[in-house]
Amino acid sequence: MAQTLYSRLLLIALCSLSECSQRRYHHINVKKTWTEAQRYCRENYKDLATVNNMNDLNQLMKSVHNSLTDYIWIGLNRSRVYKWKWSLGDPVKYTNWSNGDSNGPGHCVYIRDGSWRHQSCNMNMRFICYNEISKGFIINGSSVSWRAAQIFCRQHHTDLTSVRNQIENQQIQKIMNDKNISEVWIGLFNDSWEWSDKSDSTFRDWSSGEPNNYGGIEDCTAVIVTEQGQFNDYSGTSFQTFVCHEDNLILIQMNLSWSEALRYCRENHVDLVSVDSEEIQFMVTKVIHRSSTDAVWMGLRHSCAVGLWFWVNGEMVCYQNWAPGNETAVDDCDHEVKSGAVQSGGDHRWISLPESRKLNFICIRYDE
Ligand SMILES: *[C@@H]1O[C@H](CO)[C@@H](O)[C@H](O)[C@H]1NC(C)=O
Ligand SMILES: *[C@@H]1O[C@H](CO)[C@@H](O)[C@H](O)[C@H]1NC(C)=O
Ligand SMILES: *[C@@H]1O[C@H](CO)[C@@H](O)[C@H](O)[C@H]1NC(C)=O
Ligand SMILES: *[C@@H]1O[C@H](CO)[C@@H](O)[C@H](O)[C@H]1NC(C)=O
Ligand SMILES: *[C@@H]1O[C@H](CO)[C@@H](O)[C@H](O)[C@H]1NC(C)=O
Repeated sequence: MAQTLYSRLLLIALCSLSECSQRRYHHINVKKTWTEAQRYCRENYKDLATVNNMNDLNQLMKSVHNSLTDYIWIGLNRSRVYKWKWSLGDPVKYTNWSNGDSNGPGHCVYIRDGSWRHQSCNMNMRFICYNEISKGFIINGSSVSWRAAQIFCRQHHTDLTSVRNQIENQQIQKIMNDKNISEVWIGLFNDSWEWSDKSDSTFRDWSSGEPNNYGGIEDCTAVIVTEQGQFNDYSGTSFQTFVCHEDNLILIQMNLSWSEALRYCRENHVDLVSVDSEEIQFMVTKVIHRSSTDAVWMGLRHSCAVGLWFWVNGEMVCYQNWAPGNETAVDDCDHEVKSGAVQSGGDHRWISLPESRKLNFICIRYDE
């Protein structure tokens, strides 16, 4: 019993370690305007830096050495299009606005009586965090601004909560009723910032009082070296150093068997991709749309000897995205070894295929 518990804890520990960054960041210690920096990054790397979460921001700040400037450009800039976004980055599919009213001033959203209203983000209100590990909603009874609530949730849980469907809306309402709390901030906000690479990351880490569009000319974003990379909006015509990023995954449009694909990746890049987290699955969906085969190989292999699937990077298969029936579709171990591919269309589920099948594949380009 104790042993089972121990191995389960170990499994959880191993399974949560793989939060690696999707990108490699490069700090360019040369001063340029935002637009010149963008051009430089697009010519020499992928683009001006995109940041998806706190982990990315930490990686980005680690790439910075002896910066000539206190502000460093990243890819976030102001557009004309305002949209509702979840702090956690989920697509906004479900809404439950009070009186259908989703427009107008008040860029942060709270729930009252199960329906959603928007309000100035500076209002102090109780709030509700989401915890990815416990999958729980956690109400906090102190009244703070939306941004302070977001900072607290990111430090102690995962983020301010998303409300993805009616069931979650009802769950949250029930928790509020049980605690006799009538209003709480949720993670929905309205802004017009977008990333240079058009990524849909909703991650922002504004410094206190920012963005303030000082002088009406602050259309670009820099991270502040002295504030652990918190964001400031700033005029794009000023000269700052900057951070570019490179994608870690590359789709190879050749049709090879699984073993040939593995050899190709190891000889020309680092390895076939091990999709050992939701984050990496997400990166895969970003490169897969250009593939010419219905599925593409990933670094997933079945071992008949131990009757287990494993990743070529040695990780266990914790995160999973199997198409129904495929995880166990390994019965003909006598014939040919099964390997794992990800479907190019639909929900990009994983399927089990004989390893001689000729498919496109995805390599990783660098190690952490
Ligand atoms: C978002 O904010 C802008 C600017 O205040 C406002 O014009 C717009 O109606 C708001 N809502 C949406 C959905 O754009
Ligand atoms: C609620 O949030 C405040 C800060 O916003 C924090 O100081 C306090 O510890 C939190 N309470 C709980 C129970 O987590
Ligand atoms: C719930 O809160 C309201 C207003 O804050 C208060 O008047 C009421 O007594 C509270 N009810 C309970 C059961 O605590
Ligand atoms: C790979 O296979 C697909 C599907 O059979 C085909 O459309 C594509 O042209 C092939 N690509 C190459 C480089 O042979
Ligand atoms: C694997 O998934 C695909 C797509 O859903 C399905 O067509 C196929 O039948 C599955 N294979 C098995 C053995 O269940």
